[in-house]
Amino acid sequence: MLDDLKANNRAWAARKIEGDPGFFKRLEGQQAPEYLWIGCSDSRVPANDIVDLDPGELFVHRNVANLAPPQDANYLSVLQFAIDVIKVKHVMVVGHYGCGGIAAAVDGKRRGLVDHWLHPIREVFHDHRQELDAIPEARARLDRLCELNVIRQVRNVASDVFVQDAWARGQQVCIHGWVYSISTGLVNDLGVTVTGLEELENL
Ligand code: CO
Repeated sequence: MLDDLKANNRAWAARKIEGDPGFFKRLEGQQAPEYLWIGCSDSRVPANDIVDLDPGELFVHRNVANLAPPQDANYLSVLQFAIDVIKVKHVMVVGHYGCGGIAAAVDGKRRGLVDHWLHPIREVFHDHRQELDAIPEARARLDRLCELNVIRQVRNVASDVFVQDAWARGQQVCIHGWVYSISTGLVNDLGVTVTGLEELENL
């Protein structure tokens, strides 16, 4: 079972130590990534690949539609560990255009549990109803909702007590909002970076 994947794994590990025999040994001791990536679970949005980082260089949390819900113990545990223990300098919330989670949130169909998970997106949708309704093309409207959702999640992360306590003790933490394009492979920085309370208030 899954023999092809196991063969891939052995070949990958061999390639890694080919030019750098100490690669895995070094990682064994500790991880010290400077970045936390909060992204979508979509298989077309592989965090490390997109920013070309090796194992050990990116702390990753992924869920459907890249949400940072203030009551989600999974996300909060990752965030606290990243901020308090690893002391990452940057948190990137990374959405992607054409996100199925975003589309599913607002298409009116019932799917079950995921409808509850996607509820925060419907709130973003309603908060920006005028702007979104003014976009005639459906795909462009959803892509804008992808961006607005990322901005909302950036605000969630920046509003979190773990982040605010870090700022209060002088720890540098920058929260960024990006949207990735599956069709070009390129990241669009939304320019909503928050590095402290003042920027959060203006977001
Ligand atoms: Co997605």
